[in-house]
Amino acid sequence: MLTLISENLIMGHIRLYDMLEKLSSRSSLEREEWHYLLAVTDAHEREILRQKAAEVAVSHFGKGVFVRGLIEISSYCRNNCNYCGIRCGNTFAERYRLTKEQILKCCHQGAALGLNTFVLQGGEDVRQNDEWIRDVVETIHHEFPEKAITLSVGERCEAAYKSFFEAGASRYLLRHETRNDAHYAQLHPSNMSSSNRRACLETLKRIGYQTGSGMMIGSPFQTTQHLVDDMMYLQELQPQMIGVGPFIPAKNTPYAHFDAGCVDLTILVVSLLRLRFPHALIPATTALVSLNPQGRLLAIQAGANVVMPNLTPTEVRDKYSIYNNKKNSGSESAQQLCLLQQSLDAIGYHIDYGRGDYTDKQ
Ligand code: 5AD
Repeated sequence: MLTLISENLIMGHIRLYDMLEKLSSRSSLEREEWHYLLAVTDAHEREILRQKAAEVAVSHFGKGVFVRGLIEISSYCRNNCNYCGIRCGNTFAERYRLTKEQILKCCHQGAALGLNTFVLQGGEDVRQNDEWIRDVVETIHHEFPEKAITLSVGERCEAAYKSFFEAGASRYLLRHETRNDAHYAQLHPSNMSSSNRRACLETLKRIGYQTGSGMMIGSPFQTTQHLVDDMMYLQELQPQMIGVGPFIPAKNTPYAHFDAGCVDLTILVVSLLRLRFPHALIPATTALVSLNPQGRLLAIQAGANVVMPNLTPTEVRDKYSIYNNKKNSGSESAQQLCLLQQSLDAIGYHIDYGRGDYTDKQ
């Protein structure tokens, strides 16, 4: 009996080491292989994956963690995603939109803090239309020609994406949320589709953006198979940035009463992403920190290499409430970079103030 158990254990580990070897050869994994890895529950095996992922990150990026100043430009959104606190159907959500002048002021503050990337993120606000976004990007690019501008303003047409790129935006974040069409339909209203989301991502890549995608972990109805679909899709898309965070319920939404996603599973996914995409820019997301104060450090120690301190004007920050208890103060705040530095110090990492563009020298 004992030998049977230990044989099983050894066989289990052999499979894990086989997978690690395949991952280090940078070849694509099959569905069944992803399923195996995503279903690893043994704490020791997860620890092996985490340590290996941290090693891979350090070998490519050292102990530096890139910082991006996050400016949440509007809490208005025309979409009605079932999980999101700023969905248009949430009449309790508090709304604000920043003016161009306010955004520029945030950029000046960010520049004074030494940040070299500004991320403009917002709901799909019809007032912040394509021409308005283009003009804001052009002005920021003119004032800060050395800084990277990242946009995260949802699904737009190809002409708009091109015009933003020409105006100086070089990165775009648009999570695919879930690759499985049926699951996508459970999370979104019927006027949105997984195929349109993917078409947008293809377009962004084709235009030349460093493109970011990703998914929530533990979103309502999500199964391991859905996460397998996500991994297969990411292998196909090859995004330069991949953001994953746990689902967190948002009050006054249809999914307000679902459980939050699991931090440990999110950390496992971060490890696997780092192993499969060694050069990718992978943030330690605010959602992780919102669920667990140690979330940022856990993610960095599992291979994440980006953090996005919040630069949004403090008086409206609480209104960008995409889920409950979203953290935006302390070391999540750009004004408190010293706290971030201290917490990184404690695990032997430091802030890297470089632009942190995607490079794949292999
Ligand atoms: N929980 C976790 N993440 C969420 N997002 C939106 N709503 C939630 C939520 N309730 C994520 C989506 C979106 C990103 C900006 O925030 O993945 O792409």
